[in-house]
Amino acid sequence: MKDLTPARSSLDPIEIASRDEITALQLERLKWSLRHAYDNVPFYRQSFDATGVHPDDLHSLSDLAKFPFTVKTDLRDNYPFGMFAVPRDQVKRIHASSGTTGQPTVVGYTKNDLKNWGNVVARSLRAAGMRPGDMLHNAYGYGLFTGGLGIHLGADALGLSTVPISGGMTPRQVRLIEDFKPKGITVTPSYALSVLDEFHVQGLDPRACSLEVGIFGAEPWTNAMRLEIEQAFDMHAVDIYGLSEVIGPGVSMECVESKDGLHIWEDHFYPEIINPETGEVVEEGERGELVFTSLTKEAFPIIRYRTRDLTRLLAGTARSMRRMEKVTGRSDDMIILRGVNVFPTQIEELLMQIPALAPHFQIELTRPDRMDKMRILTEVADASVSDASRSDATAQLAAAIKQSVGISAGVAVGDVGAVPRSEGKAVRILDKRPKA
Ligand code: DLL
Repeated sequence: MKDLTPARSSLDPIEIASRDEITALQLERLKWSLRHAYDNVPFYRQSFDATGVHPDDLHSLSDLAKFPFTVKTDLRDNYPFGMFAVPRDQVKRIHASSGTTGQPTVVGYTKNDLKNWGNVVARSLRAAGMRPGDMLHNAYGYGLFTGGLGIHLGADALGLSTVPISGGMTPRQVRLIEDFKPKGITVTPSYALSVLDEFHVQGLDPRACSLEVGIFGAEPWTNAMRLEIEQAFDMHAVDIYGLSEVIGPGVSMECVESKDGLHIWEDHFYPEIINPETGEVVEEGERGELVFTSLTKEAFPIIRYRTRDLTRLLAGTARSMRRMEKVTGRSDDMIILRGVNVFPTQIEELLMQIPALAPHFQIELTRPDRMDKMRILTEVADASVSDASRSDATAQLAAAIKQSVGISAGVAVGDVGAVPRSEGKAVRILDKRPKA
């Protein structure tokens, strides 16, 4: 793999500023953001008043802990535009969640917000090793989802040549990679695996393709998956994180030269880690739930938003801004099976160690005889895997889960293609238990 480290002179000065400079900027911007939310969004005025806090009560960054949290249902309750802090005609872009689990959450951006979003995504793409003039194959979905258009905005800001292919039509993805020879690909890690399969179906060697870096996010993925993808494509694989409520992709980004967690673009997004049960801010370095406050957003300021993502904060390395550890999962995706907590990423990690199995999987939950059961649905790595190795692999995975997670899970290893492929975010959990 090529060394793609960006020149220090190409970075935004704030990326490598001193901590003092960064915190001074954060404090000034945080004061503005709290005031802006309080003055312009009735929801924030009510929630601050109900908690007995006022924007003037913030004198230091740690005072933020006195302010109330915002959760997803608050956004749903204010559907569609109740959380906007500017007149509707100043909102130049609207995105929304798919709303498959209820009322969609709607977010908005002013002209200035779009500029800032483009800049943080450009910074992220540069951290991944992309340079002006490089070609980017953008396979995140275009539309209301922030992935496609958010990456596109940053690619434009950095001066890339963008191929806005979006997700789906996998044979065409491979053909265009072969014909156009992009340097980078932006895609969910699970869809990258589908693209990888398609290289093999077409009899092409993915290691020989032009790609030098893959920028993967929008869902949790493990370091084991990173190694698998890096090896398969002979390219770097780096992690990009974000969520629509905070801006979209580009909240934090892993640097290609260090691959040691994701630097949060702290000049725009202020992170806290809380104990999800008590809501208390935890000690620096402890694991918990990530909470974000926007520092510059005009149309949709967000104060202490509970992301449900679990991680911890670490000091900066390749950049001065703090890092978040790779997200292990969302508290919503945590399966509690007979008292044991399980995340899909733990299963992914174990599965990747068994060469006879493909990295595709789903977790099925059922409740026969009022007893919760978990079954891993996966498939053989390729058609040449013998019946004997298939049953070995089945037993091996069940044993690994028993040993490292501490639960008995069933394992079903199907033929190639048995697990439905994702074209965006993978569906990892099939919950077939009766609803309470
Ligand atoms: O997924 C934004 C995005 C697009 C990020 C493209 C990166 C690349 P939402 O659809 O609002 O926005 O989903 C946000 O996805 O709270 C996490 O649970 C999860 N997520 C996003 N990035 C990562 C990541 C986009 N790198 C939710 N690792 C977040 C783990 C991630 N989970």
